[in-house]
Order: sequence, then C-alpha cells, then structure tokens
Amino acid sequence: MTTAIIGTGGIGSAIARQLASGGETLRLSSADNESARRLAAQIGGAAVVAAGNRDALQGAGTVVLALRFTVLKSVIDEIAGSLAGQLVVVPSNPLTLDAHGNLTRVLPEGQSSGEVVAGWLPAGARLAMAFGTLTADLLESAANRSPEPAVLFYVTDDDRAGEEVERLIRTAGFEPVKAGGLGQSSRLEVGGDLHDLVVGPAKARSLTGAA
Ligand SMILES: NC(=O)c1ccc[n+]([C@@H]2O[C@H](COP(=O)([O-])OP(=O)(O)OC[C@H]3O[C@@H](n4cnc5c(N)ncnc54)[C@H](OP(=O)(O)O)[C@@H]3O)[C@@H](O)[C@H]2O)c1
Repeated sequence: MTTAIIGTGGIGSAIARQLASGGETLRLSSADNESARRLAAQIGGAAVVAAGNRDALQGAGTVVLALRFTVLKSVIDEIAGSLAGQLVVVPSNPLTLDAHGNLTRVLPEGQSSGEVVAGWLPAGARLAMAFGTLTADLLESAANRSPEPAVLFYVTDDDRAGEEVERLIRTAGFEPVKAGGLGQSSRLEVGGDLHDLVVGPAKARSLTGAA
C-alpha cells in the first residue's frame, strides 16, 4: 500500500526507512524537497519524491505528518482539500525551543496535542497520534525485535484509524498497542509515561490496561 510522508527530517526519514523495509510504497515531500530526494535515493524503488505536499497525497491512503508541531497547522491548511478519507498519522511532540534554547511545550499544560490537531483537520480525515514515542535511532534499532516484538503506542478516537495505524505499525516492525483516545496523547509525548519506552506487548498492556 502507499503512504505519503511529509517531512523527511530526523523522524520522518526513520519512519520512511522502516515502512519501506516492511514493503510499503512511499511518496515523500519536505520543505524544499532536498532531504526528500536524498532519502528517496537511499531507499530506492519503494520511494518517490512528490512535486509538493499536496502531490504527495496522490494515490496514498495514509499521510504521516513528520513535522515540527509549530508548522503542522500551516501544512494541514495547505493539504486540507485532499485529506478527506485519509488516515493522518502525527508523530509530532508539541515542543519548541525558547529564547534560551530550552525545549518548551507550545500548548498549555494539560491540553492534549491530539485534540488540538484533530481540531485543525477537515471533516472526513481520521487521526492517529503515533510514531513519536521513540527517538529516530530507537525506532530503527528496536524494530523487528525477536523473539518478543517491541511495542509502539498510539492514540485515536476513531476505530477505523486504529485498524489502519495498527497495520502501519506492524509494517514498520512493531506491535501496536492503543493507549487510549486523543485526550491521552500527552502520555506519548516527551515527559509522558509512555515516551521513550521500549517494552514488549505484555508490559505495554499492563501499562495501558488494554486487554
Ligand atoms: N527526531 C526524533 O528523534 C523524533 C522522535 C520522535 C518524535 N519527534 C517529533 O517529530 C517532529 C519532527 O521532528 P524531526 O526531528 O523529524 O524534525 P526535523 O528533523 O527538523 O524535520 C522536519 C521536517 O519537516 C520538513 N518541513 C518543514 N516545513 C515543511 C513544509 N512547509 N512542508 C513540508 N515539509 C516541511 C523539513 O523539510 P526539509 O528537510 O526540507 O527542511 C524536515 O524534513 C517533532 O515534533 C519531534 O518532536 C522527533
């Protein structure tokens, strides 16, 4: 199947490599497409560079917005006309650097980034927050672990989005575990109890209360 990846920096390129090695076809775009071109050349035939962000969605059923939180809304506005019927996957942490170079949360404490992003999407788009719990390095080193697979946590309010993001997580070489609805997204982000956690399915289910 085909997934669009908009943003081919640290996390976008790691997600792209993992999905391609699991058999996914990719359409890539980035701000000036230079990093997208380098990544496509590295991945080979499974990845093509799109003409731009909107073009990346052509023929794709899923789009991963691997962008810094502060540019998410402007890119969503740019591609909104093509998002109906799409699974939208967002790995972004709601962080930015303050004037002193310290990481700071861009949303008020307690406000869910998942609910904020859902409010930016047009009707008909299905959102899952996923692929942002591990660093890019960990995402690549923990994939396809054996004998016990490592878990990637996700949150969504939409059952169909849940099924679709679970397929994508398995394609990337992980076992999916739902951590709740979009209101629980802070558990996945930097500082959340499920962030940077490499655990197997049994431990993951005990942490989330999943069956
Ligand atoms: N890096 C990690 O290990 C990691 C892990 C988990 C979660 N996250 C989260 O994922 C998000 C992205 O982090 P990152 O480290 O991947 O950031 P990054 O390395 O700065 O990459 C950002 C990407 O966004 C692209 N971009 C910026 N504006 C764009 C636009 N208007 N249209 C299309 N693409 C645009 C950039 O394009 P160019 O390449 O052309 O400049 C770049 O490829 C952050 O919220 C971060 O917290 C990161």
